[in-house]
Amino acid sequence: MKILVIGGGGREHALSLAISQSPLCSDLHMAPGNPGMVPLGTCHKANIEDTDALFSLAVSLAPDLVVIGPEAPLVAGLADRLADADIAAFGPSAAAAMLEGSKDFARQICASKQVPQPHFQAFTNAEDALAHAKDLNGYCVIKADGLAAGKGVVVCDDMDEAGPAIIKMLGGQFGSASASILIEERIEGPEISAFALIDGTNAIWLASAQDHKRAYDDDKGPNTGGMGAVSPSPLMTEALRNQIMDEVITPVAEAMAEAGTPYHGVLYAGLMLTTDGPKVIEFNCRFGDPEAEVILPRMETDLLAMICDLKEGKLQRASLCDDAAVTVIMASNGYPGAYEKGSVIAGLDEAATPEHVTIYHAGTAHDAGGRLVASGGRVLAVTALGKDIAQARPAAYEAVAQVKWDDGFYRRDIAKSAAERT
Ligand code: AMP
Ligand code: GLY
Repeated sequence: MKILVIGGGGREHALSLAISQSPLCSDLHMAPGNPGMVPLGTCHKANIEDTDALFSLAVSLAPDLVVIGPEAPLVAGLADRLADADIAAFGPSAAAAMLEGSKDFARQICASKQVPQPHFQAFTNAEDALAHAKDLNGYCVIKADGLAAGKGVVVCDDMDEAGPAIIKMLGGQFGSASASILIEERIEGPEISAFALIDGTNAIWLASAQDHKRAYDDDKGPNTGGMGAVSPSPLMTEALRNQIMDEVITPVAEAMAEAGTPYHGVLYAGLMLTTDGPKVIEFNCRFGDPEAEVILPRMETDLLAMICDLKEGKLQRASLCDDAAVTVIMASNGYPGAYEKGSVIAGLDEAATPEHVTIYHAGTAHDAGGRLVASGGRVLAVTALGKDIAQARPAAYEAVAQVKWDDGFYRRDIAKSAAERT
């Protein structure tokens, strides 16, 4: 099969590596890809925000399947356009990707099926929003309705925090993405990420993971796209998995199908384990990044065969190994704020020598002299497998220590509490 993978981050490196290992894959194309993906196939220049150009590339390549990694092209309708052109795609339609593209839409879908979630109310008017937040003494969560690059959520203790957040967001902080906001009940409990595969109404459990969103150790510093992850989550049990499927994933898949917008692809549910059971924090319409870098290395099922079986309605289960995976993100100094580009990275081959270590590129490039340099905020995802988290964690950090790169930083406590639980 000829496959085109859309995206060029760590998640897409992990997807492309898994696809390249499938005997079904004979020709792999990536747009834009990154230096880590070059040995896997052909990388094409591309901008993932430019749906027209991505569509034209897909039409010119005529692949058997397009695997869409990031949310932006999904929300922009790339899967719909490919379907109209009779090109098979893995990823939801724009209407189904609204589960990530609009937090209010996701809440309404959950409400229609009594899926457990915090109380919420939507506002477009600051006066009404402020009055509602005051009723909650400011102890609430304020969310921009639309996509805000992971920055559209403010967890508030009091009105001193809630007031300015409401005024800023409804004042256009995130443009049209915050023209409408949600004010949510603030719930408590450990967080867990659940990944399922859905094709229409057919929903199958894939894996659990836990990510580390804050930039610095001990969950300090600003929120990021994710500074590391572990899979499986140490909090996962078979009973919890069944509960998540029965109470969250399956009803949401049904609601989407009943609404005439069936969901196709990976559904990633961010959940909080409250004393009343798991409740939905948010949905994403794709693999997580860096969660993909810990889930895909654990897969025993051939990823490409799995996607094909899912699309044909034949998939019974996805099989992951019992090993645990830990990934540590190496990021540019300054991330998630401003950072310099162009510093040289070396030592990756040595660091990735052990069979259980894989280094995924996220923000790397080749400079004019052909040297590998940092070119993004999150630069590398260093993943190790082990028989459990306690074994995978030090293996990942041993590999990180061998990477020669002066201008980056990483958290030292990725999977630390998870390792202590096992
Ligand atoms: P999100 O971008 O929706 O994943 O939210 C970012 C973070 O905000 C989540 O990982 C939670 O820690 C927190 N959060 C979001 N919604 C709530 C809520 N209703 N109650 C408590 N914490 C929340
Ligand atoms: N790691 C969080 C995300 O991919 O949304």
